[in-house]
Formats: sequence, structure tokens, C-alpha cells
Amino acid sequence: LRVLVVGGTGTIGSAVATALGRDHRVVVAGHSRGDHNVDIVSNTSIQRLFDEVGRFDALVSCAGKAAFKPLDQLTDAEFELSLGNKLMGQINLVRLGLTHIEDGGSFTLTSGILAQEPTTASAAISMVNAGLEGFVRAAALQLPRGVRINVVSPPWISETLERMGRDPSGGLPAAAVAKAYRHSVEGGPTGEVLDARQFA
Ligand SMILES: NC(=O)c1ccc[n+]([C@@H]2O[C@H](COP(=O)([O-])OP(=O)(O)OC[C@H]3O[C@@H](n4cnc5c(N)ncnc54)[C@H](OP(=O)(O)O)[C@@H]3O)[C@@H](O)[C@H]2O)c1
Repeated sequence: LRVLVVGGTGTIGSAVATALGRDHRVVVAGHSRGDHNVDIVSNTSIQRLFDEVGRFDALVSCAGKAAFKPLDQLTDAEFELSLGNKLMGQINLVRLGLTHIEDGGSFTLTSGILAQEPTTASAAISMVNAGLEGFVRAAALQLPRGVRINVVSPPWISETLERMGRDPSGGLPAAAVAKAYRHSVEGGPTGEVLDARQFA
């Protein structure tokens, strides 16, 4: 398969690109690194990416920023960033990608466990993750030409916890989380929220 990994230069995305690269032709897009550059906040930039890349069998998104702050400190701008970047950025990859994806292809987006297991600083991220999961369930009912769509919900990534100076044993290595993305691309599910812990 020809697989476009958006966010494929990041912590999760680079592990996903490596895992999929064993059996597929992977094209990596990042914000400033990778084979191609894209800003998912801008539909013009997304359109340019698809024009550069051409047709693909699968699109995996491991991109998306959202604010992680206590509720009483979240500003309007931080809510807007979370909605415009992680939520609508990934949704617009699907909306604009539909004319570039092959019949029977698949989209795989990224949410996160904070949708189901919130913490005190996760109001904006939990909102966005739950929004992505609702979008995927509904979009799966409406996608044409046998195109599938799923969302992977990763737990904390060990490498990320380590970078934050926290105990990495509370998370999963990115390479283990990549297995859920493989399942979405290579298996037959659609409309599913894939809890990455179940595939590790
Ligand atoms: N890490 C975790 O513990 C964790 C847990 C649960 C969920 N998640 C979710 O998983 C996703 C990836 O997380 P990560 O930790 O792998 O992030 P990361 O290491 O910061 O990587 C982010 C990736 O997205 C790209 N990117 C950043 N801004 C972009 C933009 N505006 N348009 C297009 N691409 C952009 C980056 O490209 P460049 O490299 O070129 O900058 C990079 O490839 C996020 O949605 C995050 O919320 C992460």
C-alpha cells in the first residue's frame, strides 16, 4: 500500500512510519520536517500536500496540538488552537483527502486516552479527543467507495513521559502503540476507536 503519514516525524508518527515501512511504501509529512511539509490548520496547505503527494491507499494522522492546562487557566485562544489544530486539522485531512484516496482505502486519526480517562489539566484535550471519536463513528457510515476510517487512542507514550521528567513505566513505548495503527491500516475495521493498549 502507499501510505501517507502526516505527523510522521513525531514521537508516535515516526514509530508508525517505521512499522508500516516494513511492508508498505510510506510517505512522511511533517510541519517542518519529512518528505513533505504541511500545516493542518490551513486547508490551502493540506490541499497543496495532496497535490504534491498524489493518490494514496491510506492516510494516517499522528499530528495535532491541543492545550494541556487546568480549566481556569485555559484562554479563548487555547481552546481555539485545540479545536483548529488537533480536531479540525485532522477532520480536514479526511474531508480534503477523500478525492485523493483510492477505493477501499483507509483514514486513521489520533485521539488519546484523555477522552475516557481525564485528568485535572485535560479539559481542552479531552474535548477534542472525544470530538474526533464522535466524528469517526459518524463519518464511517457515510464514506464512499469502501473507504474506511478509524481513530487510534494512545495512552501516555513512555518517550513523552521521559521527556517531561516523569516515570516512563506509566506509559507505552511508541513502537508498541504503532501496532494499533497497523491494525487500522491493514485490518478491516471501520468506525472504531482503537485503544492502543489492547494491541501492544
Ligand atoms: N505523546 C503522547 O504521550 C500522546 C498520548 C496520547 C495522544 N497523543 C497524541 O498523538 C499525536 C502525536 O503526538 P506526539 O507526541 O507524537 O507529537 P510530537 O512528537 O510533538 O510530533 C508532532 C508531529 O506533528 C507534526 N506537526 C506539528 N504541528 C503540525 C501542524 N500544524 N501541521 C502538520 N503537522 C504538524 C510534527 O512535525 P515536525 O516534526 O515537522 O514539527 C510532528 O511530525 C498528538 O495528537 C497527541 O495529542 C500523544
